[in-house]
Amino acid sequence: GRRLLTQSKRCVSSFDTVGVAGLGLMGHGIAQVAAQSNLHSSVIAFEAEQQFLDKGRARIESSVSTLVAKGKLEQDAADKLLSNITYTTNPDDLQNVDFLVEAVIENMDLKKSLYSTLGSTCKPETIFASNTSSLSITDMAEISGRPEKFVGVHFFNPVQIMKLVEVIHTKYTDPAVFDQAYKWVEDIGKVSVTCGDTPGFIVNRLLVPSLMQAMLMLDRGDATVRDIDLSLKLGAGHPMGPLHLADYIGLDTCYYIVQGWVEKYPDEPAFVIPDCLKKMIDEGNLGRKSGQGFYHWN
Ligand code: CAA
Repeated sequence: GRRLLTQSKRCVSSFDTVGVAGLGLMGHGIAQVAAQSNLHSSVIAFEAEQQFLDKGRARIESSVSTLVAKGKLEQDAADKLLSNITYTTNPDDLQNVDFLVEAVIENMDLKKSLYSTLGSTCKPETIFASNTSSLSITDMAEISGRPEKFVGVHFFNPVQIMKLVEVIHTKYTDPAVFDQAYKWVEDIGKVSVTCGDTPGFIVNRLLVPSLMQAMLMLDRGDATVRDIDLSLKLGAGHPMGPLHLADYIGLDTCYYIVQGWVEKYPDEPAFVIPDCLKKMIDEGNLGRKSGQGFYHWN
């Protein structure tokens, strides 16, 4: 087990430059919260393709405008935030960042190829942090060529609003590196918790099987979408019902998480793929992002 050095109020300075690789649902929010702090971090936001870079930038701008319109962010702070972010499609621009958060899609081959490139191009001091929700941090750390400088930092959707970040260590992680990551999470206004490198860490290990159980209820015809969701909202105080939340997370993301677990841990009864989930994926109904899932989204 790891020592919780973080509880001893050691003061480690935050990172001057933060790189974010992948500007999708999670990455755009991570770039935004990394740039919004009063830490004067400059953020380099990377996407391999221009169209996805533009989309990520538009998402950040829209979220910032919402926060300004709601009086949650001053216009000056919003301008500063936006000017703290540089956008690029060139991975070489990440060479000199102090902390690199990776939030590309949940595909191990893609992540490994990115880490093997960045492992050789980034300066030796760069700390790598994956936002994966379900893949092995240890496997990525081994590919990176700098396993002692590798952690997981797992954010929740919507990143701008959700307070929690899981900070994950492996058997290789240097405790000082873990402390720096843990401190950075608190610097950007989030609350850190930690967990070993296990499937789903804390939140998803509990949450994702519960979403699957809700879908299995549908498969068996036990209850309707409306009644399942209303039940957990009104009967258990959840902000969203499980099927609503699955749509919100993305049914493809839910599917890839469970599929990976089923393959890797076939004897774990909590890891199952409901028929209705598989069917919706095959039909291209991915939840909010595609406009149709358990609900119709505008
Ligand atoms: N940028 C800026 N502001 C945003 C925002 C964004 N991207 N998204 C939401 N907001 C703001 C809204 O504008 C709103 O502001 P006001 O309170 O000032 O009106 C506020 O956040 C709340 O949003 P809404 O009014 O739209 O709706 P809500 O009160 O139902 O809250 C929610 C929305 C915060 C998403 C809430 O429903 C909730 O907590 N849902 C559960 C989310 C959850 O469980 N997330 C974890 C998913 S699992 C995951 O992410 C891990 C994984 O790996 C799969």
